[in-house]
Amino acid sequence: MKILVTGGLGFIGSHTVVELQAKGYDVIIIDDCSNASQEVLAGITAITGIEPALEIFDLREKKLVEDFFNKHTDIGGVIHFAASKAVGESVKNPLLYYENNIGTLTYILQQLKKFELPTFIFSSSCTVYGQADELPITESAPVKPAASPYGNTKQIGEEIIRDTCSIMPELKAIALRYFNPIGAHPSAHIGELPLGVPANLVPYITQTAIGLREELSVYGNDYPTPDGTAIRDYIHVVDLAKAHVVALERLLNNKNKSNYEVFNIGTGTGSSVMDVITSFENVSGKKLNYKIVDRRPGDVVAAYADTTLANQELGWTAKNSLDDMLASAWKWEQKVRSIE
Ligand code: WQD
Repeated sequence: MKILVTGGLGFIGSHTVVELQAKGYDVIIIDDCSNASQEVLAGITAITGIEPALEIFDLREKKLVEDFFNKHTDIGGVIHFAASKAVGESVKNPLLYYENNIGTLTYILQQLKKFELPTFIFSSSCTVYGQADELPITESAPVKPAASPYGNTKQIGEEIIRDTCSIMPELKAIALRYFNPIGAHPSAHIGELPLGVPANLVPYITQTAIGLREELSVYGNDYPTPDGTAIRDYIHVVDLAKAHVVALERLLNNKNKSNYEVFNIGTGTGSSVMDVITSFENVSGKKLNYKIVDRRPGDVVAAYADTTLANQELGWTAKNSLDDMLASAWKWEQKVRSIE
């Protein structure tokens, strides 16, 4: 069966393509290569031995989206990653985020409706919860006013899908609310390739350790947490990728309980920034250069998932430990810098 993966050259998309191919699916990628290079295609191929089909165009070009679906009438499912995802950039350039993240979603959904394509997996985010009132966070936790346009596009995206499913009973959709994806494929053929200065913690850590950055700034150690630093639910990108395949197969096998479902995808364990630094130093054997600075505006104190629903309904559980995640991130960083 042919599965369309939009944004399939991205960090999570590429790891999901690998897992789809490992399960025997025929994958076609749409990517505009704005945030990923075609070297990722070589990385995927190096892992699976199968080069996925790739069409390079901008999903904001509605005509090109229509042409694609007119040409590929044998698509059995769609996993939609393509979106802009930098929280800080979204604050500076909200219209880019609303056009790219919302506009392209509507174009894809219009084609699903036109061709009666039955299965759709949406890349959402725990950012929709903001600072949850209760921890761990369940899927029934209230969605809070987004702290950034990026987070708002995920909330709006989920509402658009829900409304579409309500008028299209034949469409089955799942939104996966990711917690904090980190790490890289154990082969180090693919991984996270942040453009410019990383906004996220783990690529900044590995770039500091490899000597690309002077030192890590820890954004605040005065939070009401055991060591004062903020807590997140870090999940290995391969565990997250596998969750997409399981969610897709839930829909393909008609195991879904309604035609729009939401699942938290995390480990269920919260780790502080200092936990991550300690784990990194353990697995790399390197002392990390860091300093404590002020809190970053918009950060929540703590967020980690209640994974009961995904465990029970999807039969999926994250397998990798924090050490596994950081060891794979470090192996990837060393690989990337060795071939520069
Ligand atoms: C993690 C922790 C920071 C950088 C965001 C998005 C989320 C998802 C993942 C896309 C926080 C601290 C970070 C640094 C630090 N994005 N930190 N120094 O903000 O939890 O989540 O990225 O899907 O939707 O909201 O991730 O890695 O930026 O931060 O101290 O240089 O590390 O304060 O506590 P975040 P992050």
